[in-house]
Amino acid sequence: HRHVDHATPERVAEVIAAGDFHPVIPDYEDFAAYRAKGGYETLLSLRESGDWQEVQERLLAAGLRGLGGAGFPSGRKWGFVRAEPAPRYLAVNGDEGEPGTFKDRFYLERTPHLMLEGMLIAAWAVEAARAYIYMRDEYPAVLEILRREIAALEAAGIVAPGYIELRRGAGAYICGEESAMIESIEGKRGLPRHRPPYVAQKGLFGRPTLVHNVETLHWVARICREGPEVLSGVEKNGRKGLRSYSVSGRVAKPGVYLLPAGSTIRDVIEAAGGMAEGHEFKAYQPGGPSSGLLPASLDDVPLDFDTLQPHGSFIGSAAVVVLSHKDSARAAALNMLRFFEDESCGQCTPCRAGCEKAVKLMQAEKWDRELLEDLAQVMEDASICGLGQAAPNPIRLTMKHFGEEV
Ligand code: NAI
Ligand code: SF4
Repeated sequence: HRHVDHATPERVAEVIAAGDFHPVIPDYEDFAAYRAKGGYETLLSLRESGDWQEVQERLLAAGLRGLGGAGFPSGRKWGFVRAEPAPRYLAVNGDEGEPGTFKDRFYLERTPHLMLEGMLIAAWAVEAARAYIYMRDEYPAVLEILRREIAALEAAGIVAPGYIELRRGAGAYICGEESAMIESIEGKRGLPRHRPPYVAQKGLFGRPTLVHNVETLHWVARICREGPEVLSGVEKNGRKGLRSYSVSGRVAKPGVYLLPAGSTIRDVIEAAGGMAEGHEFKAYQPGGPSSGLLPASLDDVPLDFDTLQPHGSFIGSAAVVVLSHKDSARAAALNMLRFFEDESCGQCTPCRAGCEKAVKLMQAEKWDRELLEDLAQVMEDASICGLGQAAPNPIRLTMKHFGEEV
């Protein structure tokens, strides 16, 4: 994959020739272990005598919002899909491509059955004719775990053989955009569709489709088992719930940290063992490159859905990257735009040409702020999907907070 710089063609050829390319499978909770702890009891009893609207109420009471990054209320999606005629489908978005995000992988490599049970509960709720899991191919261990555990579910008679279809992504960031993912599952090039219609109305093969992120489904299972309080019972800084922050950059212990949704960047850094030695906190990316860079001085804002909006940013998938005084905000912003230029699907001009022009303008010694702002506005207003619409955020936030560097 071209973003993994050690995967040169020579290295790939070497690995293939040696025939030693096997993913290392971490210790995880397999079907037998999960079942022994009461796993799938919730699903089975719901199938027996459950009321889907009661479960929907529980999700709404928990305050569960889409954890791919958009934060759309998950229970409401069930209602949209159920309101449409059958056949309906379910698709799990496991194309975790947001730079800095690795929480879905974290959960799948430890407790894959929470996602799988959550998925089957959601499939039951919308009476899905089939469930597709679109998993990024850069997670070979996760793919192997899912293959094994789906087979175990089939063998135990919990799902009919072939009901769950595992699909591999091929390394395109844009295939994580839900409609591009659907195009990809249908066997086409991953180009985002115009909306409306939303996928809830017209998704896979033109049918109503429930799309959920991996972590969202993990919480569906937990809410059904433990009650809505598992999320709604946690409160901090006026915010309710929990967030799985993927923390990387200049911290002592990078990793996934499950913290109250009202946590500030200071809390997140503290959870990650503080700053790495010799580094002073300067800036942070709160939720993927499209959330841009915020300065260390903005350290009292809860990193939750909606709270960063007044600052021109958002939490997204909670991919927190911490930068220090040894890092350049300007270089980081340029890197973000290069990423978008590379990953733009090229379907619409404001994004395809806009990202390319932005990269050129950002290479100038002194940024032409007026021109960049003009370009940012056009990209935001006229791009088809979130990639092009949010790509200008790093430009704007860098001009605003790190003006001396540009
Ligand atoms: P969105 O807000 O447009 O949609 C979110 C979800 O709600 C979608 O499933 C959409 O179909 C549904 N929805 C929204 N309005 C609806 C309506 N009126 N009727 C029916 N359904 C409706 O956001 P989008 O573009 O899907 O996602 C953007 C987010 O994705 C960003 O915040 C970004 O953080 C995140 N992202 C995450 C990545 C990852 O690897 N986890 C990668 C790239 C982006
Ligand atoms: Fe493709 Fe960019 Fe347009 Fe999205 S905004 S459809 S990624 S060209």
